[in-house]
Amino acid sequence: MFYQLKMFSRFLFIAFACIAPVSCNAQTGDAKQKDSQRAVFVKYGCYECHGYEGQGAETGPRLAPDPLPLEAFMYYVRHPARRMPPYAPSVLPDEDLEEIYQYLLSRSAAQAVDDIPLLAARKE
Ligand code: HEC
Repeated sequence: MFYQLKMFSRFLFIAFACIAPVSCNAQTGDAKQKDSQRAVFVKYGCYECHGYEGQGAETGPRLAPDPLPLEAFMYYVRHPARRMPPYAPSVLPDEDLEEIYQYLLSRSAAQAVDDIPLLAARKE
């Protein structure tokens, strides 16, 4: 009995040693990319007015998860129309702005008010 348990635990150890690196790498790779995109969004201070999730606030409109088309997005950041400060390419390079755009696209959509019982009840 003890021998069987020992063999089984050895089997488990080997099985995990083989499987773990594959699945862990797949996850951390994706998560790392999202973390770096978020870091760029934070680095340039977009979060200060648009929120960490790009969800918007009194200080700036919602940007995520469906920002303007890429070209219009890039143009706006370079030439904002009203209260937003302009970001020149020398301050915020195109590559970083594209990372920010990818970050915004990857945010999840807000839940519909009708799907949140407490909010849905207040509408009535
Ligand atoms: C100081 C506050 C502030 C900061 C910082 C800021 N924004 Fe804005 N942003 C605004 C405001 C306010 C608007 C609404 C239009 C206006 O007043 O210019 C806006 C509008 C936008 C729009 C147009 C949205 C639309 O759908 O019309 C985009 C795109 C945008 N911001 C992207 C960014 C990005 C990317 C950053 C970071 C590099 C950033 N903003 C940083 C305040 C800010």
